[in-house]
Amino acid sequence: MPVIEWIDEFNIGIECIDSQHRQLVSMINNLYEVIRSNKDRHPAIKKSLDALIDYINVHFSLEQNFMDRICYPKRFEHVEIHKWISIQVVSLCDSYEKDKNSLLAEELFEFLSDWFVKHIKSEDLLIKSFLDQTKTQGY
Ligand SMILES: [Fe+2]
Ligand SMILES: [Fe+2]
Repeated sequence: MPVIEWIDEFNIGIECIDSQHRQLVSMINNLYEVIRSNKDRHPAIKKSLDALIDYINVHFSLEQNFMDRICYPKRFEHVEIHKWISIQVVSLCDSYEKDKNSLLAEELFEFLSDWFVKHIKSEDLLIKSFLDQTKTQGY
């Protein structure tokens, strides 16, 4: 389970979104550290997950407001994807809460890190392309 390393390609060039993405990377990586620690880790995992879920919601709201503001044409699909991710994360967290199984915590970490990298590359970067396109068209 490798932690996420921030690479330049993750930058979409909108500072408020980029800084939240960096914060998400640090929180997802923190979850990994907590899962790996040997001590009584379940309260720490729970704390880390609660903070992450809150922050994911904060981030999705900001990104959604931004997409509305610039009238991004794919914003409705993008919002649906955010909703799907939130549902998956909450359901994985619930499963973990029920039996405090470390494997489920690892599964959660894998889901989050995988989601983060794929979502930025396949969806969030399209916002940047749209902005670049509108700039070159002189809007
Ligand atoms: Fe997004
Ligand atoms: Fe995002």
